[in-house]
Amino acid sequence: MYNNTQIRAFKQATTIFLQKLTLKEEISSVDINILKENLRFHEYRYYLLNDPLISDFEYDILYQALTKIETEYPQLITPDSPTQRVGSSINKSFVTVPHLVPMLSLENSYDADDLNDWERKAKDQSNLNAIEYCIEPKFDGASISIIYENDLLVRGTTRGDGVEGEDITNNIRQIRSIPLSAPFSKYGIQQIEIRGEIVMTKDSFTKYNESLIAQGLSPLANPRNAASGSLRMKDPKEVAKRNLEAFLYHISFIQKGITTPHKRDIDLFSSNDTNENDYQQILTTHANSLKFLWDLGFRSPQKEKVVVTGVDEVIKHVHDFEQLRDTLPYEIDGMVIKVNDFALQDKLGMTTHHPRWAIAFKFKARQATTKLRNVEFQVGRTGAVTPVAKLDPVQIGGVTVSSISVHNEEYIKEKDLQIGDTVLIERAGDVIPQIVKSLPDLRDGTELPIQFPTVCPVCKSQLFKEEGEAVWRCINIECTAQVVEKIIHFVSKDAMDIKSFGEANVRKFYEMGILKDIPSIYTLDFSQLSTLEGFGKKSIDNLTAAIESSKQQPLYRLIYGLGIRFVGETTAKALANSVEHLLDFTSKTEEDLQQLDDVGVKVAKSIHHFFSNEQNIIMLNQLESLGLQLKNIKKEAVVEGGLVGQTFLFTGTLSKLKRSEAEALAEEKGGKIVSGVSSKLNYLVVGEDAGSKLEKAKKINTIKVITENEFLELIESK
Ligand code: IVH
Repeated sequence: MYNNTQIRAFKQATTIFLQKLTLKEEISSVDINILKENLRFHEYRYYLLNDPLISDFEYDILYQALTKIETEYPQLITPDSPTQRVGSSINKSFVTVPHLVPMLSLENSYDADDLNDWERKAKDQSNLNAIEYCIEPKFDGASISIIYENDLLVRGTTRGDGVEGEDITNNIRQIRSIPLSAPFSKYGIQQIEIRGEIVMTKDSFTKYNESLIAQGLSPLANPRNAASGSLRMKDPKEVAKRNLEAFLYHISFIQKGITTPHKRDIDLFSSNDTNENDYQQILTTHANSLKFLWDLGFRSPQKEKVVVTGVDEVIKHVHDFEQLRDTLPYEIDGMVIKVNDFALQDKLGMTTHHPRWAIAFKFKARQATTKLRNVEFQVGRTGAVTPVAKLDPVQIGGVTVSSISVHNEEYIKEKDLQIGDTVLIERAGDVIPQIVKSLPDLRDGTELPIQFPTVCPVCKSQLFKEEGEAVWRCINIECTAQVVEKIIHFVSKDAMDIKSFGEANVRKFYEMGILKDIPSIYTLDFSQLSTLEGFGKKSIDNLTAAIESSKQQPLYRLIYGLGIRFVGETTAKALANSVEHLLDFTSKTEEDLQQLDDVGVKVAKSIHHFFSNEQNIIMLNQLESLGLQLKNIKKEAVVEGGLVGQTFLFTGTLSKLKRSEAEALAEEKGGKIVSGVSSKLNYLVVGEDAGSKLEKAKKINTIKVITENEFLELIESK
């Protein structure tokens, strides 16, 4: 969309703006147009190309500068200003509005025979021997329709019944990959209706479900439900937080003519070639329409699509693409095959239900039905009692599923689950399986309600539920289940990583009475272990060494291992970096804690609660006297490391080191590991079969691309 000259100009302008703002100089209102286009440029880099040129922090500085000018000069606010996504108004109700053209569905196909039948009909109808197709992913999300008039986004609608949908414009404006304005008028287009799919990435979905569970709420069955639920939220600000993405794949209506196009802040799209500007010259094939949308700043499946001739090629491609399914960041449930040529599409026409020029090829279902046989109740390390459904084992997407968490009492009620029910379950790639619903129509009267226990299934003490929470908890801190789960968490891989300890050994040692709490790990009576089957000298030596070396684990691992509620690995790192010694937290207030990255009100409260408990302080003192590292020694080492201030990213398969070992080496010398390629990256270390990260890095000339050997040399030299 942007040419090289424009990219350079934006980079320069960004640098100048940021310099001024860092020096606390004002940006003149005269520059508002450049500032706005600049922000749009960075949104495009971030949301469409996934290749930002500035940090989120720098983006925020520019955004705030724009907000400041607009507050001072409200007359300069335009409807497509980047600040105008987040409207203040709450959606009271969603009004139903007609689509300009009905939103049809797609015919489905499942195998080569179905596709051959479909092609045969198309060939008969068109008298052609060979047909060209454009193939693209079938995004598994919520379908939308958006309308631009005179270059401005004026409406966003759900599919509804296909003829009319709900007006969700305010919510659609929150999705940053959907431009608020686009220069359609340059192409003689006054009004355009575009169709697409809103998806939630698998990562965002997992995080979202985790946050629901942490709040004691019910998680959602799949990213599709999460996306469609998000689009209908009352508060647009909440929609903005959901990280939704939009794929636009179909132009359903165009009204020719120019009335009074919205004036763009800077004219980026002038062209002397009039032919190039006539949409009818450009929009001759589906593939061209995807490129057209992409060039105007829409996230169309321009990079994902392929154009092939004949059904045999189609079949080959859809099968190849199915192999990639699990590697994609979002869910797809098949491919859509579209006749590429628009003239031929018109000739083939449509039925009342679907176009004859397109067909969906559905991948193997990730859903299955099975019987819910029983519900068991497990007590976690925080005392939360979680019901787990025991199912007749069933295969979904190559994995056997026989038990699924059903989270809490509310969830069981919502899904109307009973013992003996047939249930529909779904597993989205690497996402944890969920029960979508029960099938009450298949009941035969022998089903039994699920009884939630009133006492802890392990220690039998009374269960409690906090107000506003859905989770029942055992609050007996001596409850065996909790103590054992706490120790299992403490020794686990991401926490203290005490190799060869493991869940089974924790349970065994606990039953034997030689392990009773976390400190007792460090005073284990090894003489008693030698009587156990499978515990020869070698395994005892290994275990002793692993326990001993865990004493030197960095502080954040210890913090994470303590299992403080709401403190995950990232928060543990932020906490560790903020103190000299772990017990410094005893003097911090909730307000102090909230100043830290990643720590909100709820998390601060939980941390404060942990460090105000005398028992916990006694335990930490005990651990220190047993030789564990409670000081933030890494902080000191880092300051001295030769790679302080340098960022690293590893891609491809390394041959000498594991990825985690390589990262640890860089961190030991003060380097920082980052998660993506951007201008903030200093070194990309490339192993075998490096893919898109390498391609991206090559485009940013400040990034040093080095091999594993070069990396090791660098580490040696520092
Ligand atoms: S084309 C007339 N393309 O699948 C054009 N649809 O099962 C019809 N979908 O209602 C739509 N990805 O919501 C098209 N690349 C894609 C799609 C796609 C997902 C959805 C769409 C449609 C449903 C039919």
